[in-house]
Amino acid sequence: MTYLETAAEFYREVAQTPQVGLCCVQSTPLQLPGLKVPLAMQEMNYGCGTTVHPTELANQPTVLYVGVGGGLEALQFAYFSRRPGAVIAVEPVEAMREAATRNLEIAAQENPWFDPSFVQIYAGDAFNLPVADAAVDVVAQNCLFNIFEPEDLTRALKEAYRVLKPGGRLQMSDPIATRSIPAHLQQDERLRAMCLSGALTYQDYTQLIVNAGFGQVEIRARRPYRLLDTLTYNLEENLLLESLDSVSFKVSIPEDGACIFTGKTAIYAGTESLFDDGAGHLLQRGIPAAVCDKTAAKLAALKPTEIIVTDSTWHYDGGGCC
Ligand SMILES: C[S@@+](CC[C@H](N)C(=O)[O-])C[C@H]1O[C@@H](n2cnc3c(N)ncnc32)[C@H](O)[C@@H]1O
Repeated sequence: MTYLETAAEFYREVAQTPQVGLCCVQSTPLQLPGLKVPLAMQEMNYGCGTTVHPTELANQPTVLYVGVGGGLEALQFAYFSRRPGAVIAVEPVEAMREAATRNLEIAAQENPWFDPSFVQIYAGDAFNLPVADAAVDVVAQNCLFNIFEPEDLTRALKEAYRVLKPGGRLQMSDPIATRSIPAHLQQDERLRAMCLSGALTYQDYTQLIVNAGFGQVEIRARRPYRLLDTLTYNLEENLLLESLDSVSFKVSIPEDGACIFTGKTAIYAGTESLFDDGAGHLLQRGIPAAVCDKTAAKLAALKPTEIIVTDSTWHYDGGGCC
């Protein structure tokens, strides 16, 4: 069996016998007016954060959702688009497709605005998405890509890039590791399937996103996720996993490198009313301006005594320097 087959087998099991809390995080579930999430769907919430960002889902976007699970986020995306075929869900595990279909039928009974035709579920996987090039506004995946080994993750990211329209967004939530996960855990296929041992470091994860062609990455949230403790996981030191919510844009990569926004701002504290770096960044004296990490580093190096750069908040959702 390959590790991908082990993962499919694991999700067949948890489609048939839900594991409440398999991937859950300490955050308030998204509540939307007029949206009732069926209990069976809540019990199959296998996401480790959220990929649904309500302020960014205007104009009924077409969403391709990879790894449908119990259908929770497919339903949440459908809430914003409300038209047949608005959400295209791709799922290789038959039992999971059946569970999601059942859950969405219950959702239709509990939500007068929802029709099951809004979500179309296809057999398929992250490496061969069943849509044409540049066809969708959003690709979303929650707690799936961390399962993939780096070469497969690269394939999945490139496939997401292919199907996105120019300017389209890849919305993801995944565990990341605060240091490299030792090989004996990475090779444990069941732990990998459970989203506990395939996670990359923040640096490696974001680098692979950029390598796939995404010119701008925005971090929406970063929280503690799970502790791999010394005793249970045969480690010399405890290893903290975090959960990272991100949105990556299909825009070209600037010549001096991709823009990664982590919530930093730059504040000009010099004697003039305005500072212009000549590269498109105007800082008004005393007013924080949101900047990507690349620009933050450049500005700090340019004027070490006059420009203050604030720390990453790990929550960024607008404005920017690029
Ligand atoms: C951790 S669950 C997350 C489910 C859902 N995103 C959620 O938030 O509840 C991973 C999902 O991806 C599916 N999956 C497994 N391997 C896959 C692959 N190669 N391509 C696409 N989906 C896959 C699993 O069957 C499962 O439904």
